[in-house]
Amino acid sequence: EQIPLEMHKVRIVQKLNLQPVEKRLKAITEAGNNTFLLKNRDVFMDMLTDSGVNAMSDRQLGAMMVADDSYAGSETFFRLKEKITDIFGFEHFLPAHQGRACENIIAQTLVKPGNIIPMNYHFTTTRAHFVLNGGTVEELIIDEGLEVISNHPFKGNICADKLRHCIDKHGAENIPFVRMEAGTNLIGGQPFSLENLEEVQELCKENKILLVLDASLLADNLHFIKVREEQCRELSIREITKRISDLCDIIYFSGRKLGCARGGGICIRDEKIFAQMKEFVTLYEGFLTYGGMSVREIEAMTIGLEETMDEEVINQGPEFIAFMAEELQRGGVPVITPPGGLGCHINAMKFVSHIPQEQYPAGALAAAIYIAGGIRGMERGTLSEERNSDGSEHPADMELVRLALPRRVFTLSQVKYAADRIIWLYKNRHLIEGLTFVEEPRILRFFTGKLKPV
Ligand code: F0G
Repeated sequence: EQIPLEMHKVRIVQKLNLQPVEKRLKAITEAGNNTFLLKNRDVFMDMLTDSGVNAMSDRQLGAMMVADDSYAGSETFFRLKEKITDIFGFEHFLPAHQGRACENIIAQTLVKPGNIIPMNYHFTTTRAHFVLNGGTVEELIIDEGLEVISNHPFKGNICADKLRHCIDKHGAENIPFVRMEAGTNLIGGQPFSLENLEEVQELCKENKILLVLDASLLADNLHFIKVREEQCRELSIREITKRISDLCDIIYFSGRKLGCARGGGICIRDEKIFAQMKEFVTLYEGFLTYGGMSVREIEAMTIGLEETMDEEVINQGPEFIAFMAEELQRGGVPVITPPGGLGCHINAMKFVSHIPQEQYPAGALAAAIYIAGGIRGMERGTLSEERNSDGSEHPADMELVRLALPRRVFTLSQVKYAADRIIWLYKNRHLIEGLTFVEEPRILRFFTGKLKPV
């Protein structure tokens, strides 16, 4: 057994509640069986997401105290901009209030009706913005990416042949950019390789198509490149980061993930695109030197980005996730392999194989995991899809329950507790029933929709 080691010590703590099971049942019923609608006071382990809930370092908290507050021209912003240039080598940087705000700006600037946007895989908010602006998303992930059980080290890779074919079919003029997502979220936090990104960039360059990187989950991806990719063994995280960013025309990220803070931003090379995007920042986000973020968030992001260049900081997420996945597998629980970043992903299709996809197996399992242990995970399956235009369900490629491991938040004993409860639930999985909507929002229904057992 490989025991991951915390490379930090805990100096500020938050008291937790573990409600009795009857109260948990009541809480999830009131939440419409949607873990997004639970209250924190009823949650023991909040594994909903890593977004905005990673632990901050002492240096981040310290920097927040010296932030330079002003509407325009803040020193705090220029410190961030300098750090961005230092790490990614980009001259232009625009701040935004979070990742999806960057997606809105990118979509409004670059996506025109009828456009095709090839990518390794979609993210919920990404696709919603691209579609809203008249685009169509094409997912060109390698076949192994959608295999739940695999030993492929880079399941987030794009298939270069599929990309070539996509460009031939639609014509480069109809493709504003190719989007690569680091630590591909919806298929289990799976990384792409540097080699794959190089291949994609070659194709983009040949066809004069921009390459856009969603770097929200870059930290995990960097770690996997470092430990899994032969050609990168001897490179530092900083060097790998530079190799990646040199290939990209635009890099955007959710600062709630990358940099363990809040907010987000877009790095841009092209002057003209920068000028267009600037206008959207002032329209939707705020002035150019804060973009909807507080200066404290910006200071924390600057330090967080620097700390991301430290392998002993970024290995914490993946190592704890691998440990949890192994514990679960020992108990027979079906999980995504190889373990990726962001969280441990349970294969609901197999866990509750008696529940059909129209009854949201991953949603049902997420609710059951909460009842079983006060553990809040997130549905990442058919419930997170949008319906087809004729109103029919769009079954997801995978039915996952994601148990996020916000970085440096949970101890090893808490991770063991979660595994123990889920293994118990697996032995009693016949208790879990499918779900049906009581209230179904039209857009991004998974956030606020309410359901009941079928
Ligand atoms: N891109 C990726 C890959 C993401 O994982 C997220 C957010 C976003 C963009 C949007 O960023 O939330 O700051 O607006 N993922 C969160 C999650 C919500 O829980 O996986 P945001």
